[in-house]
Amino acid sequence: MEFRKKEYKPFDIFDSEWAAITVGNREKFNACLVSWGSLRNIWGAPGKSKATVTLYIHPSRYTAEFIDDSEYFTVSFFDPKYKKALAYLGSHSGRNENKIENAGLMAIPIGKTMGFKEAKQTFLCKKLCKQQFDKESFVQEIRDYYELYPDIYTDGHGGWEPHFILIGEIEQIID
Ligand SMILES: Cc1cc2nc3c(=O)[nH]c(=O)nc-3n(C[C@H](O)[C@H](O)[C@H](O)COP(=O)(O)O)c2cc1C
Repeated sequence: MEFRKKEYKPFDIFDSEWAAITVGNREKFNACLVSWGSLRNIWGAPGKSKATVTLYIHPSRYTAEFIDDSEYFTVSFFDPKYKKALAYLGSHSGRNENKIENAGLMAIPIGKTMGFKEAKQTFLCKKLCKQQFDKESFVQEIRDYYELYPDIYTDGHGGWEPHFILIGEIEQIID
């Protein structure tokens, strides 16, 4: 069935099921766990707009370093039995180790980028936009959230910085 006609659970698909974003090419790539994201449509006349995935990636992630030079990325979803492996991707950095192998997962080429052999569903996405939030635009509640976790959301100078928005056009969904 054409993926636009399928039903997705927008509030669960990232928040409870989690996903992995993979960026880079066969020679050099990285992946990390994401639980913030959305499926939406934007850009184009009604009925012809682009089907997109939006993720929120923190600049301190090693994965973030691959985004500027990459035209594509994948978003992979897994069966619940891989939750532990996903948690590993979300608590170790590819800067320090081969975390994909250490998580017990196998990376495979998908289009011009990489994904996972174990994924139950993979979204192949063409990068459309990377945009940093303006810190000043946040209401106090959101600033308070970031201030609670200055280590996780570090700006590298003792303060915090927000995630950036990454929008990709879904070119293909591989089940
Ligand atoms: C449950 C969970 C959800 C996460 N969701 C996100 C997210 O949406 N965006 C993000 O930038 N980091 C998220 N992270 C953090 C990264 O996955 C984590 O910092 C990872 O180690 C980064 O790896 P890297 O340095 O190899 O890129 C999440 C971590 C966990 C445990």
